[in-house]
Amino acid sequence: MRFTETRLGAHPRPSKRLERIPPYLFAELERQIRAKRAAGVDVISLGIGDPDTPTYAPIVEAMRAAVADLGTHRYPSNRGRREFREAVCAFYARRFGVELDPETEVMPAIGAKECIFNLNLAFLNPDDVALAADPGYPVYTGGPLLAGAQAEPMPLIPEFGFAPDLDAISAESLGRSRLMFLNYPNNPTGAVLPEGLFERAIELGRRHGILVVHDNAYSEITYDGYVAPSFLATPGAKEVGVEVFSLSKGYNMTGWRCAAIVGNAQAIEHYWRLKSNIDSGLFDAVQLAGATALGPELDAHVGAMKALYQRRRDLVCNALGRAGVTVSAPKGTIYIWAPVPAEFSSSADYCAHVLERTGVVISPGAAYGPSGEGFFRVSLTTPDDRLREAVERLRRL
Ligand SMILES: Cc1ncc(COP(=O)(O)O)c(C=O)c1O
Repeated sequence: MRFTETRLGAHPRPSKRLERIPPYLFAELERQIRAKRAAGVDVISLGIGDPDTPTYAPIVEAMRAAVADLGTHRYPSNRGRREFREAVCAFYARRFGVELDPETEVMPAIGAKECIFNLNLAFLNPDDVALAADPGYPVYTGGPLLAGAQAEPMPLIPEFGFAPDLDAISAESLGRSRLMFLNYPNNPTGAVLPEGLFERAIELGRRHGILVVHDNAYSEITYDGYVAPSFLATPGAKEVGVEVFSLSKGYNMTGWRCAAIVGNAQAIEHYWRLKSNIDSGLFDAVQLAGATALGPELDAHVGAMKALYQRRRDLVCNALGRAGVTVSAPKGTIYIWAPVPAEFSSSADYCAHVLERTGVVISPGAAYGPSGEGFFRVSLTTPDDRLREAVERLRRL
């Protein structure tokens, strides 16, 4: 008898809150990939955005030294080491022209995902709403549901450069909204910040008491000379919002779980209060390695990484173009957002068909929200030769 088939019925039963959310997209993709590989298929995954090149050598070296220092082995402080907080402040000043107080306006996070999820627990009551970019990173909608609240999608409109139409949000929703999740450069569309959007979001946040959360996971991965700003560089941002800055993608550190929340001191204080009841902070050695990552000496590594992705972006966009799929080359992120061929009724059908016929994994747009339907996402985090092979298989299909 399996564990789930006891006389007590389905046991153990997940909570109602867990039953409210679908399985995490990439957990499901991982399952499909395992099954295909077990069946002998040469699978190429262009699904998850997980850099295939190593963490930059000076960061690994800093980690080696930090981990050998016995002073890093005990429980970290959830507030973060001074070295890490000061490195984030220096980086924000140098890179974005944003001044931050290392005592009150910065705190480490165990990855942006942890931070974004926990902000839901910290700020939402059961009848509250979080306004979530749609399509968007799945935690913007799963997080509010797990916190027992609601997520309201804000469709990103292609004709507006993938900005949400903030004027279209109903007065009722605005009255119940406590959080708003934005993200530029944007996953999954690759869009960069539409002009004036941060200003409008700040105005809305101020008027309705909404904490604006800007997810800054991709500011360091931009192309064609575009430089992404910080949300906090917009006047008034700190009054109403926070930014979550992740080292995962820009520094090839996805496995390290290293991020920071910066901005509104009161919001950070509440986040700290919540987290000190949930986890015990970011490993001190990772904080020290993260501090090294943010120094100006690493800029050349970031530049080389951008050049690599830009080359891959052009490779995929050109190949899709030759296959008759019209895409515009994104100015940021590690993703290409492309329309599903007209003969398929849904993005999920198309991606299942592609996997079945070619062994190539791509993500269905609908997994990022209702407005993602009709699109698929290609991640550029695969070596060039495999990427070339994958687009060739797509072209033949
Ligand atoms: C928009 C966005 N935010 C956050 C994350 C997660 O970042 P982290 O690895 O710091 O948890 C991702 C990862 O894909 C992302 O695309």
